[in-house]
Amino acid sequence: MTTFAHEHWSSRFAFLMAAIGSAVGLGNIWRFPFIAGENGGAAFVIIYMMTTLGIALPILMAEILIGRMGGQSPIGSMVRLARQHKKARLWAVIGWGGTIGAFVVLSYYSVIGGWALKYTTLAVSNAFAGMDGEGSGALFADFTASPLTLFFWHTAFMGINIVIVIGGLHKGIERAVTTLMPLLFLLLLGMVVYAAQTPGFDQALGFLFKADFSKVTAMTFLTAVGQGFFSVSVALGAMMTYGAYLDQSVSIPRSAFIIALADTGVALLAGLAIFPLVFTYALAPGAGPGLVFVTVPIAFGQMDNGVLVGTAFFVLLSVAAITSAISLLEPAVSWAEEKFSGGRRTATLVVGGACWLLGLASVLSFNDWSEFYPLASLGVLDGKTVFDIFDFTVTSWVQPTVGILMALFAGWVLSREDVMAALGVTRAGELWFRLWLFAIRIVCPLAILLVFASAVWPDFVASMVQPAD
Ligand code: PFF
Repeated sequence: MTTFAHEHWSSRFAFLMAAIGSAVGLGNIWRFPFIAGENGGAAFVIIYMMTTLGIALPILMAEILIGRMGGQSPIGSMVRLARQHKKARLWAVIGWGGTIGAFVVLSYYSVIGGWALKYTTLAVSNAFAGMDGEGSGALFADFTASPLTLFFWHTAFMGINIVIVIGGLHKGIERAVTTLMPLLFLLLLGMVVYAAQTPGFDQALGFLFKADFSKVTAMTFLTAVGQGFFSVSVALGAMMTYGAYLDQSVSIPRSAFIIALADTGVALLAGLAIFPLVFTYALAPGAGPGLVFVTVPIAFGQMDNGVLVGTAFFVLLSVAAITSAISLLEPAVSWAEEKFSGGRRTATLVVGGACWLLGLASVLSFNDWSEFYPLASLGVLDGKTVFDIFDFTVTSWVQPTVGILMALFAGWVLSREDVMAALGVTRAGELWFRLWLFAIRIVCPLAILLVFASAVWPDFVASMVQPAD
């Protein structure tokens, strides 16, 4: 079987920056704060850390491991490994599911990434000055109501990603992430230092770190698992692709731990940058998806250094989104490189172009198609726009399915000797290795099954896991 010779990371640092760049994204800075806000703050944060450590991290290790053992795109790797181990070709569904899932996520991720770019220009031009809640809400509503404006920013965002990915692993992705990630950390620290001096900081600390478990239900766990999967970038083939470019000498367990830790750290720091502003200006912490685009700009419009702080914040958000989007594009591009002989440039242009086209459905979901629910006849998808359907199906169905299959494949299908060799484990009795094996063989599949069920039959699972009152 022929294999395609992909470039390899030029250093462990480059790999880590790319993988942390993939993990740290809109999920950390846009989604985590509002999900924590809606789910009671600190209690959610603690549960989130537990589920990320116990479920997302073991799967992240399995995913990078499978990628490195396969050495190809997720599809190519799975076909190859299934054949090598004389297992059913059906296992390739891990590769297909992940690749298509990542492609679909990118199509709408790019639309939101475009919002971040647009809001950067608004912040620079002092557009938030003196704005109240109503003004900020209207600004956002007017912006999203215009298909042409959203089209423009979606195109700009996707264009940036295509340009980076066309450059290849060394000249494109590595160069981008090794400059952008340090910039991201710097901006984030700057934001937290600024926020620490505002009067709302203490309240934010309490909100994020003083746990009130009275609001916790089993549903909180399920939300945490889903958020952890998205945030750590597992089960969509992105980490598998990055793993395929990784030299044998780099430790997977250590790298995975660093990636998950950095991702969680950034989510918490994002909370520490955002909530002090929210409390200082007496805004609502549980404001939902509008938290970053509607609530936080009000604070920028009222503070003294609003242009500077606001610009820093939206550049941070844009950078986080770009370095994640690259990793969502790469699985399909690497597959197209292997499959067709057109070279990387053509592969990226075709895949990126198709994804851009699909993204137009999400652009319209916020305006012309905002009341178009194409799959309303399937009960659970009723009331969902195309954008909602894409987000929901991938994060609630594709990711859990691929996640379970990845865990089972690494835990039960690959031989233990191969896995130990690939992970650099010398004694089967090593405690962390036994824990990891237990996690991916049993704990992760069962836990994800519950998450899956909660998405498909929300009422049923809620009634099972919540005490009747
Ligand atoms: N982890 C990214 C975020 O938190 O925004 C999103 C993401 C990227 C999910 C890549 C999955 C993935 F494969």
